[in-house]
Amino acid sequence: MEIQFTTKDKKWIQKTIRKTYSKAAKNPGGLFRYPTGHEGLMALKYDPELLQALPAEVAASYCGVGNPFTLGPINAGDAVLDVGCGAGVDALFSAMRTGPSGKVTGIDITPAMLKRAQKNLSMTDLKNVRFEEGSVENLPFADEVFDVVTSNGALNLIPDKTRAFGEIYRVLKSGGRLMVADEILIGELPTEKNKIIKSWAQ
Ligand SMILES: C[S@@+](CC[C@H](N)C(=O)[O-])C[C@H]1O[C@@H](n2cnc3c(N)ncnc32)[C@H](O)[C@@H]1O
Repeated sequence: MEIQFTTKDKKWIQKTIRKTYSKAAKNPGGLFRYPTGHEGLMALKYDPELLQALPAEVAASYCGVGNPFTLGPINAGDAVLDVGCGAGVDALFSAMRTGPSGKVTGIDITPAMLKRAQKNLSMTDLKNVRFEEGSVENLPFADEVFDVVTSNGALNLIPDKTRAFGEIYRVLKSGGRLMVADEILIGELPTEKNKIIKSWAQ
């Protein structure tokens, strides 16, 4: 069952996401219930060869919840979109896999995350990556332009999931693939968590 959110709820959710992830853009360490940074990448078994090529400061900004690359390959020449790219670590991994003949785009609603992603990109030699501001609920791309869409820890934050999946489907080429790592809630949200979420908004 999908929860129906009012426009006011959606604005509050986006404001709270921007506030939380602006903090994470500086340093995600200790902000989440799971390991972040280099420790998180190691625990999730990211490709050690690619991980070694990543500057330490870039790896430190990682706050994904899983490893979407376990779901399938990123091939040379692929056009890849990472939705909710955060500080861009997954987008940079994809770009190392596509090589210069491919291209990778990261999209996010939090300006501080995009600034960190741009800084991370400048610390690499990669030329085939760009980051832009936008929401997965309204992707600023033409139909059927990406071979692969990745997402890591972002779709759980989006109120209108039907619309988000519809947008992802629209921008994927025929035969394209969606590779998602995310958190799901099983059962009711504990009352304690509800209180915490409400306190974020103040
Ligand atoms: C867990 S972080 C992403 C981590 C990232 N994949 C990495 O490699 O470190 C989740 C991101 O989703 C973004 N986000 C939340 N709602 C969004 C939306 N509607 N559209 C795009 N991005 C969104 C947040 O701003 C945040 O940067």
